[in-house]
Amino acid sequence: MFRQLLVAALVGVALAAPSNKLASKNIVVNFKQGTEEVLNRVDRMRFESRGQKITFMKAQLEALAETSQKNALSILNEKAAKFDSVWISNQIFVENVSAEVVEALLALPEVAEVREQKIIFIEEPIPADNNTINAEWGVEKIEADAAWALPGGNNGQGVVVSNIDTGVRYTHQTLRANYRSSYGWFDPYTSTANPTDGNGHGTHTMGTIAGSNGIGVAPGAQWIACRGCSTSSCTENALTRCGQWVACPTLASGGSPNCNQAPDLVSNSWGGGQGDTWYNSVISAWHTAGIIPLFSQGNSGPACGTANSPGDATNVLGVGSTTSADGVSSFSSRGPTTRGNLKPDISAPGTNVRSAWYTSDTAYNTISGTSMACPHAAGATALLLAKNRSLTYAQVKNLLQNNADRSLGSATACGGTGSTTWPNNIYGYGRINARKALQATILGAY
Ligand SMILES: *[C@@H]1O[C@H](CO)[C@@H](O)[C@H](O)[C@H]1NC(C)=O
Ligand SMILES: *[C@@H]1O[C@H](CO)[C@@H](O)[C@H](O)[C@H]1NC(C)=O
Ligand SMILES: *[C@@H]1O[C@H](CO)[C@@H](O)[C@H](O)[C@H]1NC(C)=O
Repeated sequence: MFRQLLVAALVGVALAAPSNKLASKNIVVNFKQGTEEVLNRVDRMRFESRGQKITFMKAQLEALAETSQKNALSILNEKAAKFDSVWISNQIFVENVSAEVVEALLALPEVAEVREQKIIFIEEPIPADNNTINAEWGVEKIEADAAWALPGGNNGQGVVVSNIDTGVRYTHQTLRANYRSSYGWFDPYTSTANPTDGNGHGTHTMGTIAGSNGIGVAPGAQWIACRGCSTSSCTENALTRCGQWVACPTLASGGSPNCNQAPDLVSNSWGGGQGDTWYNSVISAWHTAGIIPLFSQGNSGPACGTANSPGDATNVLGVGSTTSADGVSSFSSRGPTTRGNLKPDISAPGTNVRSAWYTSDTAYNTISGTSMACPHAAGATALLLAKNRSLTYAQVKNLLQNNADRSLGSATACGGTGSTTWPNNIYGYGRINARKALQATILGAY
């Protein structure tokens, strides 16, 4: 019934609109067979290394996709449609589809749904109140510099971080030394050989994670990146293919996958909507791959119940934003989620954050947003993983949460939790403290 309604809706558009309107329809094909069964099976097995586990996961998911997508792919090939088949979520993305092809796909019993692709947005940066700020206060506020100097401390060396964003200006003076050029970049839009950023957002967020010159939390880490967002908008196709690339990186051409090259964490400063589960299969595969997912919580505050997706998922670290005075940033999205869960999980500096900018190799910009908070938490995660790369997602989450600072500004209660009961729907478990979390890791207190 639902499938028929969808056909009717799409055909309706085709009939009612001039053909050039239909020509812009980009759709996603979802199959009845999901990926959970495969991931659960892989999770129950033992492997000698993480790379072997991810390689096996990929092979199993590819086999699943091959079986369930077989008929759909033959229709698409026959009609010479432009499409991308992905294994990470068992989906096919079709560009500029005709009503005839949609009908043929919907007639397949294995197809669960054909719908238009979503367009997601980076959490748009908010111009800073004051562009004269020079000190990278966020790095100091979370005591990252003190964490580097701890006996047994580190600055992220040995860890590989990643972001899915607008790309990175890889020649920037703060980022050029620790770009991992081997399996370090993928651009699903234009397949450029080297990282680029035509927006600035992705250079800024990567600078906060791993930039040198005092802007980054984990300047000793290596970084890799995927361009999920062409400018400020991000297609569902590109975000999903970036999610797949993060799980098992390929060369910039898209070929020669090597799952041993997967990063240790992925920082995501993008999102939209609420209670929206469209990215869940990618997130689940990251967990099986042992990649820690962090998401900005959104800039939809100060109202309660404004946490954005996918940061509102229970199995990602959702990061809210704080000011240099350790208050909540007014724009920072608050919990609870539409399902009644606590969010954010933690908070980090996000107002007036200075970091690398895309306009030149020596450019900097000071901007605000939960987009700027998430990379602080990603950098702190890198410091913990540099101490012990076997830490699980749950252990990292506990370390960040249990060692967070809680002398924070007061704020209106959300979902029954005020700013002095912990955890709460304003700050989560508090504002992260990298020194305390790393100290606890060094002591094995997790
Ligand atoms: C979309 O497809 C139509 C034919 O079905 C073609 O004329 C048009 O150029 C295509 N548009 C794009 C952007 O590929
Ligand atoms: C901007 O920063 C300067 C230097 O810290 C300070 O004196 C000034 O009051 C700030 N202005 C605003 C509008 O916050
Ligand atoms: C690293 O973490 C893993 C997972 O919790 C633990 O089993 C292992 O003992 C830790 N290694 C060290 C050297 O602390």
